[in-house]
Amino acid sequence: MLTRESLEKIDREIAKYPAGRKQSAVMAALAIAQKEKTYLSNETMEFVAGLLGMPPIAVREIATFYAMYRTESSGRHCLMLCTNLPCRLSGALKAADFLKERLGIGFGETTPDGRITLKEGECLGACGDAPVALLDEDRMCARLSPETIDKLLREIE
Ligand code: FES
Repeated sequence: MLTRESLEKIDREIAKYPAGRKQSAVMAALAIAQKEKTYLSNETMEFVAGLLGMPPIAVREIATFYAMYRTESSGRHCLMLCTNLPCRLSGALKAADFLKERLGIGFGETTPDGRITLKEGECLGACGDAPVALLDEDRMCARLSPETIDKLLREIE
């Protein structure tokens, strides 16, 4: 089950498509559900499938195909650091070490307070601003340095 606010957001997404095509809103619906629940559990994916009149397996296929969806337990926030070549050449590994030291966790781990999950990711399409990280699938954090990382971590609640 999702909150009324999330359901209203999903309804607005469904309304963008012709009648009878509400399945087209599946990606937006999954993003909204993930925002509320922090990750997409089987139960949440089945709920979304029911809302959109889709087979649960079809929703699961989408959720597990795209990197922007989390299907495993996660912290309240997910910070994905790109370590592909352009970012690596611009200091991504130093940024990774700094983040790991500041958070006290490694890639694929969550801080003990459940605040942040740190992930290693592929190219985020922002190589010109390398090194970069993506916060919660919708905020690009560019030109990471010890200063910008500290500022970012102070902003994340
Ligand atoms: S290699 Fe990091 S954004 Fe492209």
